[in-house]
Amino acid sequence: MRYGLSLVRQPRTAVQTAVLALGLVLPFAAHGGVIPAPAQVNPGSGVFRVDAAVALRVPPSDRDAGAAAHYLANLWTHTNRLTLPVRVGPAEGTTPTIEFKRRSDFGGEAYEIEVTPRRITVSATTAAGLFYGAVTLWQLLPVGSDGGKIAAQTIIDEPRYPWRGLMLDSSRHFQSPAFVRSMIDWMAWHKLNVLHWHLTDDQGWRLEIRRYPKLTSVGAWRIPASVPGSPSPKPYGGFYTQQQVRDIVAFASARHVQIIPEIEMPGHAQAALAAYPDLGSIDSHPSLPVSAKWGVHSHLFNLEPGTFEFLQNVLDEVLQLFPSPYMHIGGDEAVKDEWKTSTVVQARARQLGISNANALQIYFSQKISGYLSSKGRRAVGWDEIMQPGLAADSVVMSWHGASAAHAAAIKGNDAVLAPDPQLYLDHRQSPLPNEPPGRIAILSLQDVYEFEPHDAGLSDAQQRHILGLQAELWTEHMQTEQRVDWMALPRAAALAEVGWSPQQRSWPDFLERLGAMFARYRAFGLNYADSVFGVEPGYTLDGGAIRVTLSNLPELTGAAPDAGIRYTLNGGEPKAGSLRYSQPLELPAGTQIRAATFLGAEQVSRVFTTHLDSHTAARRTSHQLELCSNGVGLLLEPSAGAGPDAPFAVDVMNPCWIYRGADLTGGPRFTAAVTPLPFNYELGADAAKIHVGDARSPEGELEIHIDGCETPPIILPLAPAAMHAGVTILPAHRLPVLAGRHDICLRFARPRLDPLWALDWAEIGK
Ligand code: ACM
Repeated sequence: MRYGLSLVRQPRTAVQTAVLALGLVLPFAAHGGVIPAPAQVNPGSGVFRVDAAVALRVPPSDRDAGAAAHYLANLWTHTNRLTLPVRVGPAEGTTPTIEFKRRSDFGGEAYEIEVTPRRITVSATTAAGLFYGAVTLWQLLPVGSDGGKIAAQTIIDEPRYPWRGLMLDSSRHFQSPAFVRSMIDWMAWHKLNVLHWHLTDDQGWRLEIRRYPKLTSVGAWRIPASVPGSPSPKPYGGFYTQQQVRDIVAFASARHVQIIPEIEMPGHAQAALAAYPDLGSIDSHPSLPVSAKWGVHSHLFNLEPGTFEFLQNVLDEVLQLFPSPYMHIGGDEAVKDEWKTSTVVQARARQLGISNANALQIYFSQKISGYLSSKGRRAVGWDEIMQPGLAADSVVMSWHGASAAHAAAIKGNDAVLAPDPQLYLDHRQSPLPNEPPGRIAILSLQDVYEFEPHDAGLSDAQQRHILGLQAELWTEHMQTEQRVDWMALPRAAALAEVGWSPQQRSWPDFLERLGAMFARYRAFGLNYADSVFGVEPGYTLDGGAIRVTLSNLPELTGAAPDAGIRYTLNGGEPKAGSLRYSQPLELPAGTQIRAATFLGAEQVSRVFTTHLDSHTAARRTSHQLELCSNGVGLLLEPSAGAGPDAPFAVDVMNPCWIYRGADLTGGPRFTAAVTPLPFNYELGADAAKIHVGDARSPEGELEIHIDGCETPPIILPLAPAAMHAGVTILPAHRLPVLAGRHDICLRFARPRLDPLWALDWAEIGK
């Protein structure tokens, strides 16, 4: 049986009717620590005490209620060291009871929780409703309390949107089945219900297909990019066996998460073409590597009958594994150069009577979506499929902003909002130096929280075609699973609240509830980002002392009356009672600062520690410098081998940084640490816009310009760093004596694109 979440938006439900009748509008704080905030919370009087005397009760032969009760019991065991029995049948005597009950009047995923001093009742019509009731009830008890009290209240809840998704890219980097299960589990506790699993791309094919073993024996492995001087890289890759996928799908189904696999076509196909070159669109069918580059590749599937037969055979196996009514067939970024130049493709186009390459892609996706329809499934595609002739049952995933979703809804097609950059979680989430690699433009937690799916330009009927929203975890720069957690959490919590909770939501209230969510993340060992609360240091030299600023408070405005940074200067752990930061500190070299953010008594950031020394104010990392431009701004680490804690901030189009306001009065010493990085980017025509070929030596130079980037440079040759894959400190150089402060422009002159050079830090001091 398909575990069919109905992704069709319903007319007004019993919950909405009840809510309208009650006219409840409660202070957000009434939601306790629950994320996403429930639709309605109605306070009662008294408390229900959760302790070892409590029993969970489910109706006889209600497996869904049993599953929800056991899920709750297991969560409380994990986070609250409580072991509560699950019993079948009505409550006995005066035992405090948590009862799971069916009702017939709720739709979809709705549930009610009624808390009274003697009994808690969770009721819902569907299995999903019972499950989400269990998840909310779990969150009503703070982590680690060994039991505790839950205030009497009635919660009536249901989601705003039926599609609340995350996309995981397992092609660019591969995650273990255990990681995928962990992600599904935490998705479920955020009431996220769609995992769009990006399983194939240019850099790796990750799904076992029995009929075509080379897809994984060849297509799942690549040789990572590297620079001269680094050890030769080992093949990188991995894939999911069909048995592993079946287990993951069953695990997800038990948590009401639907997995929608994506098999990319006609572009993003290089790993498949590396395995089966005859399917490609270059007439000579050259052998291609599985790509180790990021960006948009030019290789497409051809349109020969044998290729469609291959794709249909692949899809047949995929459909067997994934019971979802939806199948994602990609469709994005298919540059048509090969189709235009291939005599075979052109001959096929003439035979089909198709005169242009765009129309060929329409033909391609119609054939595949028609095949899926014939099997009772619906195609989902990136918004490039939004073309004349799009099948009525196809779903448009809007990633170029929201305009394709808008157009699809008007046309009568279903759509999902997955816009770049608003929901692309490969962006860093703060300017803090501990953000892991990714795209440099900041997509903060608040940015995600403030994303609003409602489109006032659509009628109610058209609105119903917007199934919901989804955030994307593209993993080019997420080499490790810990970093996927960091990029996802807590931004997925913000996404969940946008997708589930009523439109009227409150950022300060969300921040207040976030500390409780962080405690849950810690209980499960998840490497969540604390960036929203993280302490950002700033340093300037002020006579003999170092002037230190600690900030993040703008983000916290209104979060809690007693929000602030607490610090120590004696090496001690900052506590809620430690000194409160209120103004810049003047401190001597040798001081150790430790600081963390508190909301009242609750510590919500990790501890930031630094030792002030003679370099502190003079040295600026690539994060603290300004980029001259942001063409393709990235935080990068060496592709092979372990990266540094603070990756390099660089614009791939223009590796150039500004050190603002350097004091040149005494002719200071300039020192810089630099590193070569592989230039592994497919940028198409944009690659020609990168300025190279201006080097004066085979290795290139670091140029130091004073007051602008066009002034005559001081030259530091890169030869000492050229054959070293790591970071090299170039020999120091005295800058000229000039009165006052000056902006220093630092750029690399290099003979060719590869390697790209990055600055780790620059120091201008005595
Ligand atoms: C995409 O980001 N190419 C869907």
